[in-house]
Amino acid sequence: MTALKQRTDTSPMRNIARTLAVALGQRDHHTRLHSDRVVHLSAELGVQISLSDRELEQLSLSAQFHDLGKIGIPDKVLHKPSRFEQNEWECMKQHALIGERIILAIDSENSQEVARAVRHHHEHYDGSGYPDSLVGTDIPLFARIISLADSYDAMVETRAYHRGRSHREVMDILNMECGIKHDPDLLHAFTAAIEKSEARGPAD
Ligand SMILES: [Fe+2]
Repeated sequence: MTALKQRTDTSPMRNIARTLAVALGQRDHHTRLHSDRVVHLSAELGVQISLSDRELEQLSLSAQFHDLGKIGIPDKVLHKPSRFEQNEWECMKQHALIGERIILAIDSENSQEVARAVRHHHEHYDGSGYPDSLVGTDIPLFARIISLADSYDAMVETRAYHRGRSHREVMDILNMECGIKHDPDLLHAFTAAIEKSEARGPAD
């Protein structure tokens, strides 16, 4: 559980990270709360696959900022309460690149790796994702982890355009997407990690 505790590190990257998290919360409170849950789920998966403390720290920063680029998405798209039209979808996809750009502006030895995870968190294991259609393990590990945690949380949560699904329904969908959207080995580890997680969705 040590790896999951709130770190009180005062490194420049952490200080900037806290500031950016506040900025994101001001722009889009929902995304800030979602990001906090994705940090938690990602860290649990990271512990399950025995990442080092340094890797867990990098993963945590990457998860915190996976959707940071939404700061740069216009209100009419960001806060649209219904499904996107094609042009709105293309606009929303830019958040991965905007987030990468913001993180790369931080002068820190950690920023390259975090920025890479942010850029690639919507890649799919079979190459059907964006922005670069990366395939399999060419997708950075942290991005593959965040993608799973992000998908899980998004489906469990009730949104304007869908009800929250049960834990079992979400796991069935993730398993249907195994090898398509998600890394099979990571999904196997996630299945073990989520069973003992406080962040597991409702049973029914
Ligand atoms: Fe995203």
